[in-house]
Amino acid sequence: MASVLKVCGGRPLHGTITVRGAKNFVPKAMVAALLGDGESELHNVPLISDVDIVSGLVGLHGARVDFDQESGVLHLDPQDLHTAHIVDIDAHAGSSRIPILFCGPLLHRLKEAFIPDLGGCNIGGRPIDFHLDILRTFGAKIEKKPGGIRIHRDGPLTGAVIDLPYPSVGATEQTLLTSVKAQGITVLRGAAIEPEIMDLIHVLQKMGAIISVDTDRTIRIEGVDKMSGFVHHALPDRIEAASWASAALATGGDIFIKGAHQPDMTTYLNVFRKVGGAFDVTNQGIRFYHPGHALQPIVLETNVHPGFMTDWQQPLVVALTQADGISIVHETVYENRFGFTKALRDMGAHIQVYRECLGGLDCRFGRRNFHHSAVVSGPTPLHGAEVIIPDLRGGFSHLIAALAAEGESTVHGINMISRGYEHFLSKLRALHAHIE
Ligand code: EPZ
Repeated sequence: MASVLKVCGGRPLHGTITVRGAKNFVPKAMVAALLGDGESELHNVPLISDVDIVSGLVGLHGARVDFDQESGVLHLDPQDLHTAHIVDIDAHAGSSRIPILFCGPLLHRLKEAFIPDLGGCNIGGRPIDFHLDILRTFGAKIEKKPGGIRIHRDGPLTGAVIDLPYPSVGATEQTLLTSVKAQGITVLRGAAIEPEIMDLIHVLQKMGAIISVDTDRTIRIEGVDKMSGFVHHALPDRIEAASWASAALATGGDIFIKGAHQPDMTTYLNVFRKVGGAFDVTNQGIRFYHPGHALQPIVLETNVHPGFMTDWQQPLVVALTQADGISIVHETVYENRFGFTKALRDMGAHIQVYRECLGGLDCRFGRRNFHHSAVVSGPTPLHGAEVIIPDLRGGFSHLIAALAAEGESTVHGINMISRGYEHFLSKLRALHAHIE
């Protein structure tokens, strides 16, 4: 795909698009399949590069992957799993964070693994200290190597009590994927409970795992000896759905999103309504539209589930540039997630970022050198500009801003968007965007 897109903005997006399986779930379910004695079948799989990356990595270790892009059905047979050569692994790791989640399954099956240094969006340090502490607690031995880490186990991995310092999605997934076949019981306190985490628990339960989730973020796992393959229909991508919904708001449009699921988006829908958007929920999906009157400013704080998701924040900020007044956004999950606002300022937005925790509780980044609060004053007409995409969600926000702006914009680095938004060019055309 060419990495430059010309956008002729200032027109409302309108029409119907479909979102398929969640980018932040599907690759994890593929890793979970490595724990099974038999083949697994995953439905509603989107055509995104994170799926390619994991397909390549599991293939390297001898698993067989068949993915029918049309039907979205992916088969994964892990029966011939074997260790892989370090140099090949590096080539497949790509800019993903998923490889760190291979640790548990490969330790159980192969007793050892080499995990390449991770990629992922530059929205903060993206440390993996929680992951490494968790693996050591289960009994894994970890050595830092050039380009990654080598892990191995001498005896069986044993269940543990783990207190997460922060409800980290990745660290919760690390614990789930390692504990299900460890000996004994694991208690994980302070766990993430996102819908994607719950869907991963449903997959593991189908495979034979015994997992309970309490209302106080405590997850208990009883280790089992055998796990089978699974058949599962992936939950829809609520981040993609919210991104297009924010695009409808920012461009004064009307988009029906097939597959959008209200229970996963409750908090987003509340904020969408407070900003002045309108939505209709049906069994097939959700219609998001701008009802025509002025958009309202809000005070917003991102948080772990069930709070307002950090990945929903950037696309919504574009819509807030069109709201009639001053909005405050306090990003509490990542320390550096307002990089994308520079391009919006170049297009005429009035956005100022601050080091202070604004409009909400003190968070981990207060009184440090992180610009993690933003003040947006609107409405400001946006004009076309030349922009370079910084990261996945920020990149989609640039696209929305270009679509909302009067005149022509040139957006560089759009192939990064295909990491998390399948067929987004054909979706833009289906929504009558003027692009080339
Ligand atoms: C997942 O990232 C998602 N990515 C992110 O989506 C999402 O924003 C994030 O969860 C929060 O919901 C995938 O699922 C592939 P975390 P993850 O561990 O697991 C700190 C997107 O655009 N932390 O919940 O990496 C971390 O620095 C992406 O789709 C540690 O300090 O997120 C952050 O401040 C962006 N040490 C906080 O926890 C660790 O060992 C939340 O991170 C791990 C995390």
